[in-house]
Parts: sequence; C-alpha cells; structure tokens
Amino acid sequence: MTSRLLQMQAVILVGFMGAGKSSVGRVLAEHLSWTFEDLDDRIERREKQKVAEIFRDAGEAGFRRAEHEALKELLEGLRSDSEKVIALGGGAFVHESNIRLIDAANLPTVFLDAGVEELWGRCQRQSEKQGMERPLLGSIEGFRELYEKRRPHYLRASVRQETGGKAVEQIAADLMQALDLGRRGRQGEN
Ligand code: S3P
Repeated sequence: MTSRLLQMQAVILVGFMGAGKSSVGRVLAEHLSWTFEDLDDRIERREKQKVAEIFRDAGEAGFRRAEHEALKELLEGLRSDSEKVIALGGGAFVHESNIRLIDAANLPTVFLDAGVEELWGRCQRQSEKQGMERPLLGSIEGFRELYEKRRPHYLRASVRQETGGKAVEQIAADLMQALDLGRRGRQGEN
C-alpha cells in the first residue's frame, strides 16, 4: 500500500451523502498543497446545468451517464505534476463502470464512514443553512434504505475512515496519517 501511495497522483474520497467528501477533501488538499476537485462540479460545468436540474430533465439515468463521462475525463486528465484530492458524489462508487475506471487508474480510494442518523442530520443542516439541493435526499426511511444498499460498495474502498462525531480538520488529520501522506509530503520537499 505504502509504495503505491508514494507514487500516486490522486486520492479519491467516496461515501454516502453527508459523509463530508467535499469539506474534508478541501481541507486535505490544502494541507497537501494539492488541487481539490469535486466530481459534481465537473458534471455541472460539462452539462451547463445544476445536478438537481440534470435529475429533473434527464432523470437519474441521465445523471449517471453524465457522471461516468465526467469521471472518465477527470481520470484521463490526471498528470503526475499536479496531484489531486477528488470527491465523488454519493452514487458514483456504486456503479461498476465507474469502479472499473478507478481500478484501471490504480488510485487509492477512501470511504468516509458515519452512521446513517448522523449523515441524515448533516444533510438536513446543509439544506437548511446553505440551501443545498440533493435530489435523492427524500425521507429518512428511503435515505436509510439507500445507505444500507450502498454501504457494501463503499467498503470496497482501499481505506475506511470513521468520521462520526469528528470535526472536518480532525478527519483530514486522521486521513493524512492513515494514508501516510505526511511522510510523502516531506519526501516530496527533498
Ligand atoms: C448523489 C449524491 C450527490 C450528487 C447527486 C447524487 C447520490 O452528491 O452526486 O445528487 O446518488 O448519492 P453528494 O454525495 O456530494 O451529496
């Protein structure tokens, strides 16, 4: 694992809605002086529509097609001189075609894990405070059902990072350690 991490160009954060993929990803990228990229942002730029609008106009199947194409473009564009922390949307690491792309890129993946009640609470607070629109949020019952269906897929990630009850800074620091990135950063400076 370590030798692979020493050569890597990117790390990919996966997990359910509310897992903190974007907020942790931003802080982690800052600590590493890497670029942060959110796959949903790339989808919105490519499609010239918000995620919620893509769901409304093209349905979930249309969104998944756009997501796959955006992921392919992102991975093909990775360069060794510009390292990235990448946050995927909650459904991206569930689809086999996406997992095949990530496996072929030989990049480490991190599952940001938390209990479903906490994830639900985080999503509710984000939609109240920031007006964040998540087309698949629905009811707590549907949310829990989707979470249980997806969790086994997320567990296929290279690393599982517990996030329950932790602040974003703490999670990023734990991840630096789990991925041995502090060591890598120092080596890169030599
Ligand atoms: C989705 C999660 C969203 C976004 C889209 C679909 C999902 O991203 O990609 O609404 O299927 O769970 P976040 O996980 O960042 O909310």
